[in-house]
Amino acid sequence: MNKEILIEVKNLTHRFSLSRKIAVNAVNDVSFQIYKGEILGLVGESGSGKSTIARCLMNIYTPTAGKILYKGINIHDPGEFRQNKKLLQTRRQIIFQDSASSLNPRMKAADIITESLKIHHITPPRGTCQKEAAFQMQYVGLDESFLDRYPSELSGGQRQRIAIARALAMDPEFLAADEPIAALDVSIQAQVINLFKHLQQEHGFTFLFIAHDLAMVEYLCDRVGVMYRGRLVELAPAKELFANPVHGYTRTLLSAIPIPDPIRERNRKLVVYDESDFGEGEMKEISPGHFVLKPYKGER
Ligand SMILES: Nc1ncnc2c1ncn2[C@@H]1O[C@H](COP(=O)(O)OP(=O)(O)OP(=O)(O)O)[C@@H](O)[C@H]1O
Ligand SMILES: [Mg+2]
Repeated sequence: MNKEILIEVKNLTHRFSLSRKIAVNAVNDVSFQIYKGEILGLVGESGSGKSTIARCLMNIYTPTAGKILYKGINIHDPGEFRQNKKLLQTRRQIIFQDSASSLNPRMKAADIITESLKIHHITPPRGTCQKEAAFQMQYVGLDESFLDRYPSELSGGQRQRIAIARALAMDPEFLAADEPIAALDVSIQAQVINLFKHLQQEHGFTFLFIAHDLAMVEYLCDRVGVMYRGRLVELAPAKELFANPVHGYTRTLLSAIPIPDPIRERNRKLVVYDESDFGEGEMKEISPGHFVLKPYKGER
């Protein structure tokens, strides 16, 4: 794998203030790197901060502390952002977890797909916006008859594919896919996963892939990070993480994957994560690229 760093997340913390006295520490001192051309998976329990990280990576949120470098550019520094606006606004794309609310209800699918091209005055690679929309639509497995439909006239899975087509139309070099397949049926899930693999292998796309489906994560991702209560507790090459999970929470998570053998499945026990089971030690280096943090016991 190419080890050129595309994104560097350094001590990222994001806190949401709910009132003057109450704040949620959604992301807590998280550091990691994303290499050019890799698919980095992010898994973890609901509310552990995965989407918040994706949104910080896209400048939707400004971190409370820490910084994010994209090709060495500090994306939350107003001056650096302004100087690299075109690159940062066009070559990074996100597929939101909730595509239903991320699509403009007053726009037809074709216009949704090509809206960013128009905003950024980019000539569509296939000549016209209509041709571009039709191409991207077909790429994600929808035929041209969907081009004139409004989001409310589409199913959840079809809407999600429009959101994917919209991201692909910008020819991104980095795609943050926040649970992009959760709303899709199994055959379309496989199609989208294979599409992502193709985009990585043939076009060198770099992905952050957030998902709950661990089998998909194992299949698709080069490396996987595990989030637990706002902390990144483990990050390792996918095969290594699945074969030898080190953190207690990761073991709990992996124990919940169904085993395709009825006898083993019946006899096995689900692991319940107990923070006290996990020994002390700030950060243990297990092998190159594989580290683990002890559970976070501080204030939230
Ligand atoms: N806009 C917001 N305002 C206040 N709190 C928020 C906001 N968005 C997220 N949070 C809180 O921040 C924490 C992290 O949320 P986040 O959406 O990043 O989790 P997640 O890991 O993506 O969860 P899921 O798997 O359910 O999508 C949660 O406790 C959530 O309630
Ligand atoms: Mg989320």
